Amino acid sequence: MHRQIELAPAPLRLPDGPFLAALIGAAGSGKSRVARAFPPDCRLELDNYRWQATGAPGDQTATPTARAVFRELLDARLSRHLPTVVDSTNSEFDVRAYLLQRARSWQVPSIAIVFRTPVEECLARQETRLQDKQVPPDAINRQAAGVPTTTAQLIDEGFKYAYYADELDLLGLLLMRSATADPDPLVDVRRAFGEDLAAVFTWHEERERGFATGTFAVAGREVKLRWMDDGDPYDHHWQARLNETCTDGCPGPLWVKVSDAADLQTVYLGGVPDEPWCDGCDSNSLAVG
Ligand SMILES: Nc1ncnc2c1ncn2[C@@H]1O[C@H](COP(=O)(O)OP(=O)(O)OP(=O)(O)O)[C@@H](O)[C@H]1O
Ligand SMILES: [Mg+2]
Repeated sequence: MHRQIELAPAPLRLPDGPFLAALIGAAGSGKSRVARAFPPDCRLELDNYRWQATGAPGDQTATPTARAVFRELLDARLSRHLPTVVDSTNSEFDVRAYLLQRARSWQVPSIAIVFRTPVEECLARQETRLQDKQVPPDAINRQAAGVPTTTAQLIDEGFKYAYYADELDLLGLLLMRSATADPDPLVDVRRAFGEDLAAVFTWHEERERGFATGTFAVAGREVKLRWMDDGDPYDHHWQARLNETCTDGCPGPLWVKVSDAADLQTVYLGGVPDEPWCDGCDSNSLAVG
């Protein structure tokens, strides 16, 4: 079964079923932003493989490795007739010819999506990027010069379909994909503590309105967490369980407010980032830490 990717409502639609879509535009033209409209497994991005090889997406010494990975994945997807979006500049004729040849070989329709972003804008956008994502101006000018200015040129090159990116309702596609995705039960954990911690977090069964508990656990080590919502929208917060109990007189468990991963680390290392709270004592009184 192939996934069907449609643009709706849109003046133009991508074809149903498999396709190879080449995004074509200079660095900074907005390709990766647009690529978000497609599911992550569809998106093949050289920067990503360069980053995995070297730690830096712009490290050109890893381009041969990145290209080899890209080619393997491209064939893997096309041979399975899966929709595939190629998120690289594709500004060189030979690069586009390679894509067309692979699409033809696997009998998958080819689509060109070309960006009309002015080169001055591509150059200006580099300023806001992280240092290792910045592309030198001469490279951008070279890329921009290689981008066909009309869709007719791309059809002549051999693409079955060719669109200007701004003609397609790619925001509509992204909204449709996002709106129909399963709700993320870890969204709040992700927001407060980050992606990797959320990946090792499990909510406990007994979730109630305004109160929930869960655990971060990795290979036998864990930190317990709970989420409190006192009804005041500005006063909900996370608490982590401390390893110690309250005082000699009260065996109640101690909890402490944590706001982020740094607070969590403090707790894990035996510290106390805020005044601890004891469940065993009067709920309004703070226990002695
Ligand atoms: N329509 C837009 N409005 C505002 N900012 C934008 C828009 N499109 C892209 N940008 C911003 O411009 C920068 C470059 O966009 P993006 O990373 O999508 O470019 P790219 O074509 O993928 O570049 P590269 O080839 O270097 O990967 C990003 O910071 C992005 O958020
Ligand atoms: Mg990009």
